[in-house]
Amino acid sequence: MSVKQPTIRQLQLVQALARYQSLSVVAEKLFISQPSVSIQLKNLSDLLGLPVYQMRGRVVELTDAGQAVLRSANQIFQSLDNLKTDIDNLQGVVTGTLTIAVVTTAQYFLPLLLAAFTQRHPQVEVKLEIGNRDTVHARLRDNSDDFYLFSQIPTGVEVLESPFLTNELVVVAPERHELAQQENISLARLSHYSFILREAGSGTREAAINLFNFHGFKLNEKMTIASSEAIKQAVSAGLGLSILSRYSVDFGLVPGIKILPVEHFPIKNKWRLVQRSSRKPSLTAKAFQQFMLDNGAKILAKAKKDITSASSVLP
Ligand code: PGA
Repeated sequence: MSVKQPTIRQLQLVQALARYQSLSVVAEKLFISQPSVSIQLKNLSDLLGLPVYQMRGRVVELTDAGQAVLRSANQIFQSLDNLKTDIDNLQGVVTGTLTIAVVTTAQYFLPLLLAAFTQRHPQVEVKLEIGNRDTVHARLRDNSDDFYLFSQIPTGVEVLESPFLTNELVVVAPERHELAQQENISLARLSHYSFILREAGSGTREAAINLFNFHGFKLNEKMTIASSEAIKQAVSAGLGLSILSRYSVDFGLVPGIKILPVEHFPIKNKWRLVQRSSRKPSLTAKAFQQFMLDNGAKILAKAKKDITSASSVLP
């Protein structure tokens, strides 16, 4: 064989000839003219110094040289297919680090979602920052992370948001509270009771105060605590009522507290995955966003069902 090598097209023709055993069918299948098929196969035969096919009646058959070319062609195309898979995998593999900063209320449900995500993409390393609103807002301004999680989005920064989950705020009271057995409690009535509220800047606090103001009432704030967890303990101890995200009640069970049926409650908002508009999302970030949109609500609904059925079998 000369130093020249068969072309990819000539190799494709030999493969097609082995399959269809007809020059005209090969031409038709590969969308080229029959003379072009004949010329290219003749050039290949000239290159090899041996014919690659022969006629047996009306059927075209590969010669031994043609069979040798076919074996190499199969290997070469297999190898090219593998190359494509390798490149697809390189482009498609979800790996590297995902950084997320979230406000404290999200700590009740985000770990469940991250567990499911990293189970699907074990090569991903997650860095999670949990802070108050000011801390997370500062990280958002500095473009420090792939994602932020807010229910109330801070203003003044250009962001892209993907709402993926409902955030319900509920009124909680000690189980033995005089309102605990009541139905249809009005805001007017509630405004006479003492409340323990989240710290200034908290999205939960802001939404609760806004609702009361909107209906012409004032929340009677007796205590401010910068932690939903500590608030639940305080409510359970009888220090007052509070307004909290339902996820902090469902996924952070504290005995001795009860959700009250109050008019205009639950306050319904959305949890939003937030990204800086200027940040180019990595493949991993895109996969995470899609995962949250597709599965976030479902995973939490199932987790809640599991908790409910587990607590119903407890003594
Ligand atoms: P926060 O969360 O009350 O913990 O600030 C809710 C939000 O972002 O609205």
